[in-house]
Amino acid sequence: MKGLKQIARLWVYLKNYKGQFFLSIFGTVVSSIANALEPFIIGLAITEITKNFADMLRGVEGAGMNYPYLTQILILYFVRGMFFHGGQYLAQYTLTNVVQQGMRDLRNDISSKINRLPVSYFDKHQIGDILSRVTSDVDAITNALQQSLVQVLNGLLSISFAIVMMVTLNIPLAFVVILTIPLAIIVARIIISASQSSFRGQADALGDLFGFTQENLNGFTEIKLYGKEEDSITEFKRRNLNLRDQGFKASFISSLLAPIVGLISNFAYIIVAMVGSYFAFNGALTIGNLQAFVQYVWQVNQPITTIAQLSGIMQSAGAAAGRIFEFLDESEEVQGMVTTELPEKVKGAVEFDHISFSYNPKNPLMKDISVRVNPGEMVAIVGPTGAGKTTLVNLLMRFYDVDGGSIKVDGVDIKKITRSDLRKHFGMVLQDAWLYQDSVMENLRFGKLDATDEEVIHAAEIANVNHFIQTLPNGYGMEINQEASNISLGQKQLMTIARTVLSDPDILILDEATSSVDTRLEKLIQEAMDKVMEGRTSFVIAHRLSTIRNADLILVMDQGSIIEQGTHDSLLAQGGFYANLYNSQFSKTAAE
Ligand SMILES: Nc1ncnc2c1ncn2[C@@H]1O[C@H](COP(=O)(O)OP(=O)(O)OP(=O)(O)O)[C@@H](O)[C@H]1O
Ligand SMILES: [Mg+2]
Repeated sequence: MKGLKQIARLWVYLKNYKGQFFLSIFGTVVSSIANALEPFIIGLAITEITKNFADMLRGVEGAGMNYPYLTQILILYFVRGMFFHGGQYLAQYTLTNVVQQGMRDLRNDISSKINRLPVSYFDKHQIGDILSRVTSDVDAITNALQQSLVQVLNGLLSISFAIVMMVTLNIPLAFVVILTIPLAIIVARIIISASQSSFRGQADALGDLFGFTQENLNGFTEIKLYGKEEDSITEFKRRNLNLRDQGFKASFISSLLAPIVGLISNFAYIIVAMVGSYFAFNGALTIGNLQAFVQYVWQVNQPITTIAQLSGIMQSAGAAAGRIFEFLDESEEVQGMVTTELPEKVKGAVEFDHISFSYNPKNPLMKDISVRVNPGEMVAIVGPTGAGKTTLVNLLMRFYDVDGGSIKVDGVDIKKITRSDLRKHFGMVLQDAWLYQDSVMENLRFGKLDATDEEVIHAAEIANVNHFIQTLPNGYGMEINQEASNISLGQKQLMTIARTVLSDPDILILDEATSSVDTRLEKLIQEAMDKVMEGRTSFVIAHRLSTIRNADLILVMDQGSIIEQGTHDSLLAQGGFYANLYNSQFSKTAAE
């Protein structure tokens, strides 16, 4: 079974806690043995009591209850109970420890894996899918290991020890009980495989409903706007009904298992009772051991039901493990030959030397681009949407590697240094500012983790955002919620500027915010950006050309090529693409 192989691979995560793991197995063995002894010990008491009674009825001289012997049996029973419960506790406690620690290690591995993946991985995979691997898949494994492992082992041991006990007590009768085992297994397999296909149907129906709900929540405003509430409710009801039907079918089939295996056990009871009482009359079996046999029938068949039921959980855990390992085996950002390092501070000379690149080999994007930027210069990149502006920056940061040519920072080919060595010299202010769920203070401190509160506030002042933060309820202590929807886009951008000020990068990349900002905020952002750009090499992806008139170099891009480059004045004088673009924006602004 493929799932079993994946579960076996989980051993890597459990073996660090081997000692406790084997202690857990030891506890299970002890409790299983104690469990198998129970019917036998009770049988001893029953045999003695019936013998005493029979003697008393027959009027045997000095007959009566043999209390000293019965007390010994009671003590034995009690000691057995201690081993049984003690063993169970030990098994569960140590296993919980092992599983929880192992799964923590697994989650850590997944998390560090995420950080080693190339950016291109996220072009091909959905975030939600990765998220579900970290959360629900790990959860499924944790539950399966914690609950099922002990129970399955317990069940197998219980069956084995019960068989050993029965064979020692009476071989022919043991044979009768053992014969029912394959019958119970066959029935269990048939029912389980039938229920599994309907459980799959249930999971699909649930996923279907989940996806629909998520879509609706995402498009909440649009649904209201277009008055589609009724349609949405009808569709939800239809999917919900489907889930009910699938769920009912799955539960119905799987709930047949216990009663049917129970029926087989009852059948075995009858035979054991009939054959057993015959042996008892002949004196080949004591009355107590006959009673013990009846209980062993149960000890053999009940675990079969349990194991069959757990096999479903084990299978889905196997599938979950498969998905996680597939993710962990994903190829990582490859690091070519690292031959050198950048100094602590770089001057900021950047050179694109005949580079070519495409996201997809079938769709060539950039070919032979060359640009030279001197330290401290401000470079503006302009052009229509899809021109390749963001791509140029992605290449500079090595989110993607160039296919041909080279990019040099201070004369060093960036392929010859590690990505982290390169990226620590860069600061980025992006269009969709990224904030996470924590206080404003911590969000800003992300730029430099060891910054003091004073340093953070100072950076916020430079970024023109200190005043705004102070007017927030709770000021710097205000919690940003998960979607960061409780502050506006422009304010978010000011905050990321403050973060960048704090990190004090050598080279700056700004992806200019577009329309969604009001003019007052726009002016604040512009001022803040001017301040951070001072004295650093900066690349500005600009949409409003008015903001880049004083750039040292303007790159005009279209369809993956640089079609014009120069200063504002020289480009205007050329009267080409840029001049057209500028004039059209300018006349629009003038007309407003
Ligand atoms: N991750 C990606 N995978 C495949 N193709 C991509 C990817 N990112 C961008 N592209 C394609 O590459 C081209 C350049 O995109 P890029 O994002 O660099 O444009 P842009 O100039 O930044 O546009 P915008 O002004 O809209 O931000 C586009 O055709 C785009 O569809
Ligand atoms: Mg872009």
